[in-house]
Amino acid sequence: AGIFTYDPGFMSTASCHSAITYIDGEQGTLLYRGYPIEQLATKASFLEVAYLLLNGELPNEPELVSFEKLITRHTMLNENLKNFLDGFHYDAHPMAILIGVVGSLSAFYHDSLSVNDARHREISAHRLIAKLPTIAAAAFKHNVGEPIMYPRNDLRYCANFLHMMFATPCEDYKPTLIAEKAMNLLFILHADHEQNASTSTVRLAGSSGANPFACIAAGIASLWGPAHGGANEAVLDMLHEIGDVKNVQYFMEKAKDKDDPFRLMGFGHRVYKNYDPRAKIIREVCHQVLEELADTNNPLFELAMKLEEIALSDDYFVERKLYPNVDFYSGIIYQALGIPRNMFTVMFAVARTVGWVSHWLEMMSDPNNRIGRPRQIYHGPTQRDYLPISKR
Ligand code: CMC
Repeated sequence: AGIFTYDPGFMSTASCHSAITYIDGEQGTLLYRGYPIEQLATKASFLEVAYLLLNGELPNEPELVSFEKLITRHTMLNENLKNFLDGFHYDAHPMAILIGVVGSLSAFYHDSLSVNDARHREISAHRLIAKLPTIAAAAFKHNVGEPIMYPRNDLRYCANFLHMMFATPCEDYKPTLIAEKAMNLLFILHADHEQNASTSTVRLAGSSGANPFACIAAGIASLWGPAHGGANEAVLDMLHEIGDVKNVQYFMEKAKDKDDPFRLMGFGHRVYKNYDPRAKIIREVCHQVLEELADTNNPLFELAMKLEEIALSDDYFVERKLYPNVDFYSGIIYQALGIPRNMFTVMFAVARTVGWVSHWLEMMSDPNNRIGRPRQIYHGPTQRDYLPISKR
C-alpha cells in the first residue's frame, strides 16, 4: 500500500507539460501557441489555426496552401463505411454514430497505425482532421434520411462542411458568407482548450500506445457529456423548457437548490473564474449573425440575454464566480444557421479534433511519456475468506 494524494476531478494535478494552449482563468485569457484567441477568431481561417496548433507556428502562404491540399486529399470516406453507417437506427444520435464511425477508421487504415512512426502519426492526424466533417455530415444525413453527399475539395473547410450537410443530389447548396464566417469562428473558438476532460481522455487512451482513431473516438465519448461539450445542446433544451422570461426566476431557484440536480447549463467553468473569453466573442457574433439573418427578434437569444443578466446579479452566481461559458450562446448561432440541436456537440467534436490530435502528437513525441496510471485511496473491505454459497 502507498500514500497517494487524493485529488478528485484533478483540481490541482498537472498531468503533462504542454506548449499548445495557455489559459489564465482569473484574467480570462486564452492563447493558442501564444496568440490571443480574440485575434485568431477574427482574423484567421480554421485551417490556419489548425496548422498553428499542430505545428507551433502560423503558416506562411505556401505552407498554408500545401496544408490545405494535404487535408483535402483525405476528405473522402471509404465506400464500405456507408454499409457501417446504414447499420445505425434512423434516429440514432449523431454523437453515437460519430463515436462508432471514428473508432472504426482503425479498421480501414492499417497502413498507418504504427504509433512509433512519425510519418504514420502525421498521416493519421491529417486523415482525422479531413474526415471528421465528412463523417459528421454523413451522420446528419443518415438521421434525416437523405443520401450522403461527397465532399467538395474546391470549397474551404467550413463551406465544404455546410455543403455536405445541406446539399442534396437534386439541389446544390451555396452557403452564405455569414454562415461560413460564423462557423469558421465557432470552430476556432472550440479548437483547443488544454487539458479538458476529452483531451485528457485522448491523452490517457493514447498513453498506452492505442491507435489515434481509437483515442479520438474515446475523446468524442467524453465530450458528449452535458458537463462538457454536450452543454451546447443542453442549453437549447433548457431555454426551450424555460420558454418565457417570466419563468426565469423559477429556474434560477431550481439551479440554486442543492437538492435539485438542475444546473444552469452554459454557466460555470472549472478554470475560468472571470468571464470565459470565448463567450464574450460569441455573444458579440450572435448579435451580428442574427442581425445579418434578419432574425433580430430571436426569442431564444432574448431569453438567454435575460437569463445572463439575472444570473450575473444574483449572489449565488456572483459568489461562486459562475459566468456564461462558450456553450451558452454557441447553440443559438448554430440554430440560426439551420443546424439541428442534436448536431451541436458534433460541431464541437469536429472543431476539437484539431486540438485532440495536436495533444496526441505532442504526447507521442514527448520522451517523458509514460502510461497514465492513477492510483486510488481504497476504502473497501479488508481481507476476508470466501464462503460457499450455502453458508452465505
Ligand atoms: N448552475 C448552478 N450551480 C452551479 C453551476 C451551474 N451551472 N456550475 C457550478 N455550480 C455550483 C456548484 O453547485 C458548486 O456549488 P457549491 O460550492 O455550493 O457546492 C460550485 O458552483 C462549484 O461548482 P463545481 O461543480 O464544483 O465546479 P466544477 O469546476 O467541478 O464544474 C462545470 C465545472 C462546468 C462542470 C460546472 O460549472 C457545470 O456543470 N456547468 C454546467 C454545464 C456546462 O455549461 N458545461 C460546459 C463547460 S464549458 C465547455 C467545455 O469546455 O466543455
